[in-house]
Amino acid sequence: MLRRGEKLKITIDGPAGSGKSTVAKLLADELGFFYIDSGSLYRSFAWYLEDVAVNDDTINNFKIDYIWEDGKAILKLGGVNISEKIRSEKISKRASEIASLEIVRNLVTRLQHEIAVDHDIIIEGRDAGTVVFPDADVKFFLTASIKARTKRRALELESKGEMVDFPQLEKAIQKRDFKDINRKIAPLIKAEGAIEVNTDGLKISEVVEFLKWRV
Ligand code: DC
Repeated sequence: MLRRGEKLKITIDGPAGSGKSTVAKLLADELGFFYIDSGSLYRSFAWYLEDVAVNDDTINNFKIDYIWEDGKAILKLGGVNISEKIRSEKISKRASEIASLEIVRNLVTRLQHEIAVDHDIIIEGRDAGTVVFPDADVKFFLTASIKARTKRRALELESKGEMVDFPQLEKAIQKRDFKDINRKIAPLIKAEGAIEVNTDGLKISEVVEFLKWRV
């Protein structure tokens, strides 16, 4: 049960395609909470790097504007809206690679703490409930089968005009899962006390409703 009068934190962790982004945004909208998509911060940093190495300079010079407005998360780098540009498979791969580096995880954790100030928030990611906000009020862990997750990701990419080779996409997701689960720092694991929800075969509205009644 949430406490009145204090800033509240809800975390939703899970692998790619488990439905957490869609569900987290809708839930944030319904509850009037601010929404933080931590994956979009890793993606933005991957975008910013291009072919430049990760080092103290690139970390210190990275300034991102994160806006949550009308049910949409908008990310601006140097005033340019990169929210859609960071959704490609190329950036997914690069984000997954840099996300294993401690220096990058510290940067994105700090950004999340800064964004969270003065808001009731829903944070979505891989380590929101374990590392970033271990003191969160309610924690969820979303899962789904690899087939269901690949199908969702394929639809997302196709809607943006990207060509999709299903078996290749499935392999890429499995590879990223492996990296996320097995990395030394902040691996993808269910936080203690998190409520696990398998979203296979469930409508988005059903998952949102399920979560809402547990908040
Ligand atoms: O959720 P996403 O697919 O947009 O995340 C992009 C990549 O960033 C993903 O490969 C894993 C990584 N990530 C992470 O390591 N920790 C988070 N809290 C969020 C994302």
